[in-house]
Amino acid sequence: MSSKISALQKHRAAYQPKLPKALRSGNIVVQLGAPSAPPTDQEAIQKAFPNTYGQPEVKLVDGAGNLKSGALKVGVVLSGGQAPGGHNVIAGIYDALIAANPASILYGFLKGPGGVIKGKYVQLTATMIDEYRNTGGFSMIMSGRDKIEKPEDLASCKKNFEALGLDGLVVVGGDDSNTNAAVLAEYIKASGCTTSIVGVPKTIDGDMKNEQIETSFGFDTAARTYSELIGNIARDAQSAVKYWHFIRLMGRAASHVTLECALQVQPNICLISEEIQEKGTTLDQIVDDIVNAIVARADAGKQYGILLVPEGLLEFIGDIKVMIEELSNILGSDEAHLRGLADHASRVTFLTGKLSAHSAAVYTTLPASIQEVLLERDSHGNVPLSQVETERLLMDLVAAKIKALQSQGKAEKVKFSPQGHFFGYEGRCATPSNFDADYCYSLGYAAAQLVRAGLTGYTSNVANMTKPSDEWVAGGTPVTMMLNMEQRKGKPTPVIKKALVSLADAPFKFFAANRAEWAVEDAYVFPGAIQYFGPSEVCDSPTITLALEKGA
Ligand code: FBP
Repeated sequence: MSSKISALQKHRAAYQPKLPKALRSGNIVVQLGAPSAPPTDQEAIQKAFPNTYGQPEVKLVDGAGNLKSGALKVGVVLSGGQAPGGHNVIAGIYDALIAANPASILYGFLKGPGGVIKGKYVQLTATMIDEYRNTGGFSMIMSGRDKIEKPEDLASCKKNFEALGLDGLVVVGGDDSNTNAAVLAEYIKASGCTTSIVGVPKTIDGDMKNEQIETSFGFDTAARTYSELIGNIARDAQSAVKYWHFIRLMGRAASHVTLECALQVQPNICLISEEIQEKGTTLDQIVDDIVNAIVARADAGKQYGILLVPEGLLEFIGDIKVMIEELSNILGSDEAHLRGLADHASRVTFLTGKLSAHSAAVYTTLPASIQEVLLERDSHGNVPLSQVETERLLMDLVAAKIKALQSQGKAEKVKFSPQGHFFGYEGRCATPSNFDADYCYSLGYAAAQLVRAGLTGYTSNVANMTKPSDEWVAGGTPVTMMLNMEQRKGKPTPVIKKALVSLADAPFKFFAANRAEWAVEDAYVFPGAIQYFGPSEVCDSPTITLALEKGA
């Protein structure tokens, strides 16, 4: 880390994250609940996880401690996209281990799960941990998107754990990484090795949540960072009175980030992928709806506005989704041939010959840059949506439709001058809000207790988070309890169910009840920058999504 630090960094380094009351006491007891089961596919999941299926839910409560107090050796790995608060997870694990026994050791595996497979790690010292307390990013040990999945990778992990004498490994990741952690836990337990594998729910996308996990860490800070920027843009739009801003927001498939930003800023238009899918809205209809809103505002004398679009939108539009699935199948069988073709035009010709007639028609209407991105897949089989410039596609289609209307003497008052933005990477490594700083530290602290209890195949969790942190309850959820069977690479596979925006839940309902007013009025709210010091209402509140979900 650079030797020069900002004034804010200096003050944040001294911030002591809040912990649930039970974790603050020196004596922590693991309280086991009833045996657990996933909501669906019990038989198939039990078959895939015979050694870790059905474990009880765990609460960490205050009492005469029943956890290991000897010196422990624990590893930590950060997996996937950065999310604010990752360093505090590490600090929480470290402080919990040292509080239990000062001779304990924490290793940081480098550059993600690949570091666990290759046995690349550093021993994390108090000085290193102190440098990164309450800072954003994953730069202390870096991250990566490798998957621990192949038999040879599982075997090298086991070898590395045994060589290090590792009591536990904490895997900080999203739904896919926590699923992989469960696979590793099952393998390790079945092979007689005693290393505990514990996950931590991370992702700015906010899609790793369920009955047990209230939110993933990083969502709060990322959504606040984007909301600040969107609020600033709204103020600029009202000042310049000449631009429509089309803003795409990160979040992969789920629209949670976009919805949270809409709740915070109250933009004129906000597209929610899950609604578009449920209603079967076509790209043409989406464009018509946007044009109608632009015309209505122009009629009211407003040639400006704010539109939010989730990065996953295209995958939720019926015919585009089918086309992406067909492309995935073609990649499955003909990827090498496709990649060997000389240029873009040859790839399009090859693909249009393989796609169904309808998908071929959809594919050829897209700009070349989007056609190329749709041929990429990450290690988990996802399209790299952050590279699809959906906001620009919408800007072009809307401009073309307005031009067509004007050539027929309609929409005459509209002067459409769009600006495109994409907010993603600027939020993923922001300095964590107090909420994420506290939550992450608590998650890490709890993960260390699960390791001390010798539990494996769990994700650490903290509940009751709309209440003051004193009332937060930490514990562990058996990963098998969160699994369901899904088709992956053509095979039924147990995976943690991704939580998409539900149209039946309070956050969407609130948005739907208010959006008509937000479309015409300038109902913008300006959240401003994240505040770390000041009144609790400004500094410590949870996201609007979580508050509405919990009826707080
Ligand atoms: P995770 O799912 O790993 O948490 O990643 C979150 C995310 O920021 C997505 O919102 C985004 O689509 C993706 O990562 C971008 O991936 P990359 O970092 O590889 O560009």
